[in-house]
Amino acid sequence: MKESHLFERARQVREKAYAPYSDYKVGAALLDELGETHVGVNFENASYGATICAERGAIAAMVASGAREIREIAVVTENGGNPCGICLQVMSEFMKPEALVHLLDASGRVRSIPLRVLAPSPFDFDEPRAE
Ligand code: THU
Repeated sequence: MKESHLFERARQVREKAYAPYSDYKVGAALLDELGETHVGVNFENASYGATICAERGAIAAMVASGAREIREIAVVTENGGNPCGICLQVMSEFMKPEALVHLLDASGRVRSIPLRVLAPSPFDFDEPRAE
């Protein structure tokens, strides 16, 4: 699996995002431990809080397929912005801290950042420790 394939899938699926309220379209594509790719887009709602982000859409598709590990994930937005805290928490459930989150903007600029940098201290059920 070449990264460029993942990037292309994220770029293509972004066109299908449903974002009539924010006009901020997001496409996500992830590679699982079986070598399969899963995609997602943000889909908004008139009740704004019911909106689902692109990353969580792709992760839901992965889990429904039976896979359980995100090896890497690409997210395309207009400005290449960071994923939201809820999506980072959900990524943390299925992704090793060193695995890469690729953040792409609409002009093709890429930032590839380990999950542990974006989400250093996600919630889990372990005893809290000083970091
Ligand atoms: N959004 C995502 O799809 N992923 C993120 O990580 C951040 C935000 C979406 C939600 C909403 O549809 C739009 O971007 C603006 O917040």
